[in-house]
Amino acid sequence: MRPRVGVLTSGGDCPGLNAVLRGVVLAAEKLGWEVLGFKDGFEGLLPPGQYLVLDRTRTDGIMPLGGTIIGTTNRGHFIAKVGEGKRAVVAAEVIAEAREVLERLLVRALIIVGGDGSMTTALQLQEAGINCIGVPKTIDNDLEATAMTFGFDSAVAAVADALDRLHTTATSHKRVMVLEVMGRHAGWIALHGGIAGGADAILIPEIPFDYDKLAAFIKQRDAAGSLSSLVVAAEGATPKDGQQVLHQTPAGEYRFGGIGDVVARELAARTGKETRCCVLGHLQRGGAPTTLDRILGTRFGVKAVQLVNEGHFGSMVSYQNYQVQHVPIAAAVNRLRLVQPSSQMVQTARDVEISFGD
Ligand code: F6P
Repeated sequence: MRPRVGVLTSGGDCPGLNAVLRGVVLAAEKLGWEVLGFKDGFEGLLPPGQYLVLDRTRTDGIMPLGGTIIGTTNRGHFIAKVGEGKRAVVAAEVIAEAREVLERLLVRALIIVGGDGSMTTALQLQEAGINCIGVPKTIDNDLEATAMTFGFDSAVAAVADALDRLHTTATSHKRVMVLEVMGRHAGWIALHGGIAGGADAILIPEIPFDYDKLAAFIKQRDAAGSLSSLVVAAEGATPKDGQQVLHQTPAGEYRFGGIGDVVARELAARTGKETRCCVLGHLQRGGAPTTLDRILGTRFGVKAVQLVNEGHFGSMVSYQNYQVQHVPIAAAVNRLRLVQPSSQMVQTARDVEISFGD
C-alpha cells in the first residue's frame, strides 16, 4: 500500500482552498503517496471516518473553484477557540477517536488547512501524538505568523469591484454610500479594498473614528464639487467613545455586523445627504480565487507535503519575505496581526486624501 496523508479544510471557507488541495495531491502523488481528504473539517475524523480519496483526476480543474471540495465547518466536536484569546480544550475522548480513525486508515500525517481556531485544535492533536502540519487560511489576513494568507487578495478584489459599482450609482444620485466589509478585529480588507476601489473614507478597528469629523470631511468634499462619497466600514470599525457592533446568535455566539447601517444613519443625520448602506458579506468569501491566491494556495499545499516528507510535524506553513517557510504551530496561534496606524499603507491612503475619520 502507498503511504497515506490526510488533509482537511476547517473554519470559514475562502477562495484558494481548492488550489491548496490540488497542490497537496500533486506533490504527494509525485512522492508516490495517496491523499485522503477528510470531509467537513475535523468532523470527518470521527468514527468511522468520512473522507474522499483525492487524486489527480478528482482535483483536476478545481483550481478556479471557490469554497472547498471536501467541505468545512466552524462548529462541531473539535472547536478549540471560544472567542478571541479564549482557548477551550477539545475533549480527550474526541481526540482519541480521531487518532484511532487515522491509525486504522494508516494515515501517517494530517495537513490541516484553517485559521487561528483550527490551528489551536491542530496543536492539541499534535500534543496528543497525531502528526500535524498546519496551512494558514483566512480572508482577514490577520495572522501574525505569516505575512499573507490566501483568500485575502480575492476578498480585496471583491471589495474593489463593489466600490467600482457603487461609485457609478452614488455619483448618479449624488449620494453617500457606505460599504460594510468583513475582517473581524482587523482592518486589512477595508484598507486594501478601499485603496484599490478608490474609497474616500475607510473606517477600521485600529483607528477609532469620530462621526463629526467624518461628516465634516464629506461636507468638505461636497463643497469642493464631489458628486459622491464612498465610505468603507470594516465590520469591526469602532467609533471614538463607542463600541463595535456585535450581535449575539441564539447559540450565544457573538458575530460582527451592522456598523455600516449605523454609520449611514449617523452620516445622513449629520450631513443631510442621502446615504445608503451596502453589506458585502459572504460575496467576499465566495467565487473564484484571484491568480495571486491560486499561486499562494498551490505553494502552501506543496510546502505542506514537503514538511510531512521532512518530518517537521507540529509546524505551520508561513509566507515570509516572498518565500514559503515554516514556523511552529505553537508560536503561531493566538497572535493577531493588526493594521498599524503609523504604517506606510495608512500614510499612503492619507496621501491620496482618504479619511480615516480621525
Ligand atoms: O474570519 C473570516 C470571516 O469571513 C470574518 O471576516 C467574518 O466576520 C466571519 O468569518 C463570518 O463568519 P460566518 O461565515 O460564520 O458568518
